[in-house]
Amino acid sequence: MDGHVEGELDGAPELVITADGFFPRAADMRAVFDERFGDPYAVHGHRFVWDYWHVPHQYTLVRTPAEDYFGPELYAEFHAALTAWGRANLGCSRTTPVWLSYYVDGCEQQLHCDNPHGPWAFVFSLTDWENRRFEGGETMLLRGDTLDFWRSHEAGGMVEFAQLADVVAPEFNRLTVFDPRLPHGVRAVRVSPAPAGGDPARRPAPRRPPPPPAAPDRARRRLRRGRGTRGPGGSWRTGGSSSPSPSTRET
Ligand SMILES: [Fe+2]
Repeated sequence: MDGHVEGELDGAPELVITADGFFPRAADMRAVFDERFGDPYAVHGHRFVWDYWHVPHQYTLVRTPAEDYFGPELYAEFHAALTAWGRANLGCSRTTPVWLSYYVDGCEQQLHCDNPHGPWAFVFSLTDWENRRFEGGETMLLRGDTLDFWRSHEAGGMVEFAQLADVVAPEFNRLTVFDPRLPHGVRAVRVSPAPAGGDPARRPAPRRPPPPPAAPDRARRRLRRGRGTRGPGGSWRTGGSSSPSPSTRET
C-alpha cells in the first residue's frame, strides 16, 4: 500500500517579512548608542567593546554582542519581544546570540546565506533612516527569479540589479525577517564616517591643537620657493609639477 498526501498553500510562501514599529523602546536603545558616541573625546569602557570585522570581499562592519551593550534590563525586554513575535508568527521561540552592528563609510556585507544558524534570520534597525546622510545600508536579497534564472529568463529582457534582488530599507524600528537560504547582503555604505550619522549638529566644539614647533630657517626658505600642487595621492608637495592623475592619463 502506498500513497501520498497533498497540501495546498494559500499563496506563495512568504520569504521576507517586515514588521514596522516593532519595539516600543527602540528610541531608548538608540539613545544608548548616541549617548556613548556623543562626545568623541569621552573615554569610557563602552568605547572599546567594538570588533572591526573584516573578511576581504565578504564582510566589513563593526559589531558587538547586543546583550552586553544595552545591559540586561533593556536587552531582556527586546529579547522578550523578539521571541514572542517569533513564537506567534514563525513557530520559533529561541534565537542565537544577537549582534549589534554599525556601518560607516565602506562597510558592507557581500552576498551570503545564513541557513546553518537557523530557519529564519532577522535584522532590527535602529538607523535614523529619514535623516540619513549616507547611501546604502539596505538589506538586499536575491529574488526567486534570480535563483531560478534560466527558467524565467527572457531573451532580450532588461536585467539589472532591480530585476535580480529585492531591497529592504532599514527604517527605524523595523524588524525584517527572511528565509536565510536566500543569498543576501548589505549594500555598501558611503559618505559619513560618523557612527551616529554624521549630523553636523552633533559635532563637538573643536579643540585647539598645540602650536607647531618653529621651522628651521632653511626649511622656511624652501617652503617659500616652491608653489604647492596637489598630486594624485592627495598630499601637498612643493615644486611646480605634479604627476598625471589616473583619470587624465592616456592609455
Ligand atoms: Fe546574513
